[in-house]
Amino acid sequence: MRLTTTVNGEEVTREVEGRLLLVHFLRDHLGLTGTHWGCDTSNCGTCVVWMDGEPVKSCTVLAAMAGGREVRTVEDLADGDRLDPVQQGFMECHGLQCGFCTPGMMMTARALLDRNPDPSEGEVREAISGQICRCTGYSTIVRSVRWAAEHECAEREEASS
Ligand code: FES
Ligand code: FES
Repeated sequence: MRLTTTVNGEEVTREVEGRLLLVHFLRDHLGLTGTHWGCDTSNCGTCVVWMDGEPVKSCTVLAAMAGGREVRTVEDLADGDRLDPVQQGFMECHGLQCGFCTPGMMMTARALLDRNPDPSEGEVREAISGQICRCTGYSTIVRSVRWAAEHECAEREEASS
């Protein structure tokens, strides 16, 4: 089948099999390997991308379902050389070790902060509760998201003063 979708702001069209999963479309057809593929059973969350602004586990979505929709992947988080505050937060607070879970964690965190700019630790933990990190532990991941929230709040206050 012919699939046309928008990925990171660019319209793409490819011939795909109807059974192809979105995660494999992104990685194998578009070369966007920032989205990781872990469990393939909707458990680990490393494959999280956005579809029409909502975080989804791309191993549970058929590529065909992205037809005519907007997909955003971790490759789109930075603005040129300028890292997204979430990316910066993970760097500043050591929110990763092996980095395997990190793309999904960051996409979920970005979505959370866009809806709730100042989440509590509990709210961050709830947001990432569908995602598994096997090596860093969750404390520094939560701290990284809070770092991003605090910096974005400070930036907003500075801009409005
Ligand atoms: S690969 Fe999608 S949830 Fe694990
Ligand atoms: S940083 Fe290794 S699994 Fe999370």
